[in-house]
Amino acid sequence: MFENVKAIPGDALLALMMEFKKDPTPAKIDLGVGVYKDDAGLTPILPAVKKAEALILENEQSKGYIGPAGAPELAPLLQSLMLGDQHNLIREKRIATTQTPGGTGALRVAGDLINALNPNAKIWVSDPTWSNHFHVFAGAGIEVRTYPYYDAQQNALAFENMLAAIHEIPSGDVILLHASCHNPTGIDPTLEQWQQISDLVAERALLPLIDCAYQGFGDGLEEDVQGLKLILEKSPEALITTSCSKNFGLYNERIGALSVVAAEPEHCNNVFSQACNCIRANYSNPPAHGAAIVTTILSDQALRQQWETELSEMRTRIHRMRTELVKNLSALSDERDFSFIAAQKGMFSYSGLSRDEVKYLKDKYAIYAVDSGRINIAGINDGNLGRLSQAIAEAIDR
Ligand code: LMR
Repeated sequence: MFENVKAIPGDALLALMMEFKKDPTPAKIDLGVGVYKDDAGLTPILPAVKKAEALILENEQSKGYIGPAGAPELAPLLQSLMLGDQHNLIREKRIATTQTPGGTGALRVAGDLINALNPNAKIWVSDPTWSNHFHVFAGAGIEVRTYPYYDAQQNALAFENMLAAIHEIPSGDVILLHASCHNPTGIDPTLEQWQQISDLVAERALLPLIDCAYQGFGDGLEEDVQGLKLILEKSPEALITTSCSKNFGLYNERIGALSVVAAEPEHCNNVFSQACNCIRANYSNPPAHGAAIVTTILSDQALRQQWETELSEMRTRIHRMRTELVKNLSALSDERDFSFIAAQKGMFSYSGLSRDEVKYLKDKYAIYAVDSGRINIAGINDGNLGRLSQAIAEAIDR
């Protein structure tokens, strides 16, 4: 079976991550893969996580399976983190949440679920979107299409084109929306634009699939789910994928969740049972440790407070680096206006750098960014900002 198999290139983003790791240049700068880094360039374990782990180590009684849906205590905690305790979906039992291995695991279970419920449904993703969305849904056997999102001339949301395209999506298809901190552009709709998007999604009777991977990295825990809540106000059914990788810094613990929202509690239970069936056929049971950490933090008032402070420190640092980068670039070059970078949200920025400029930065300065011009702002710190700004100015002024 194996003798005629051809090798395929690995994922470009992960390949870039490996290339960076191997690069011996001492002053190398990683603006590639989306992980948070502190001012020392490290991806730290949050102190709140360390405390939670100490408690878990002391109190853990068993390594038994936790069941396909994962830790039962996690679901209500994640629901209220996203929607607030008093949300009507929670009171009316119209939302059910299953733990998953990371946000990617949640997306794959969502894909399998959609395929099980309506194999003819297509899924519409923004152009551009996180590159792995295509792989994950193709892997689940779903046809993926795109709607316009980015206006390269203006470095802004292509809002009118986006609405016009959503208008043409056949009813019953799935539309994927990024809750906040859009990956890769960093460009989010305004609240007024979310209003219009949510009206149109409901009017077209599309199934919204909201990818919520960066809650707390944009403007704040509550602010970053305003658009998501508007969608849920208008659409009676939805799927939401959550990632705890970024906001808890739990990248390698693989902890996320899939939530099902339905018009009636009974529908919700039925769909949830189908999601659990998809999980059983895939990885059977999720890993327990990441869920235990998130549960411990969210259910302890002091730990939760500490985590919120640590999250806001990460958010504030990223925001400061955006502003500093824009300030430096405008002082070094009048070739291009980079002020739009300061208004983008979350870790990522579609910087407007061309493929050729990205290559120049890597070849000459060991500065790693994605070919599309996406840069991870969290990779910038006070120590490398000067070198980075000089290099970008040189790359665009050539
Ligand atoms: C990214 O876009 O860089 C992150 O979401 C990490 C990943 O797995 O691709």
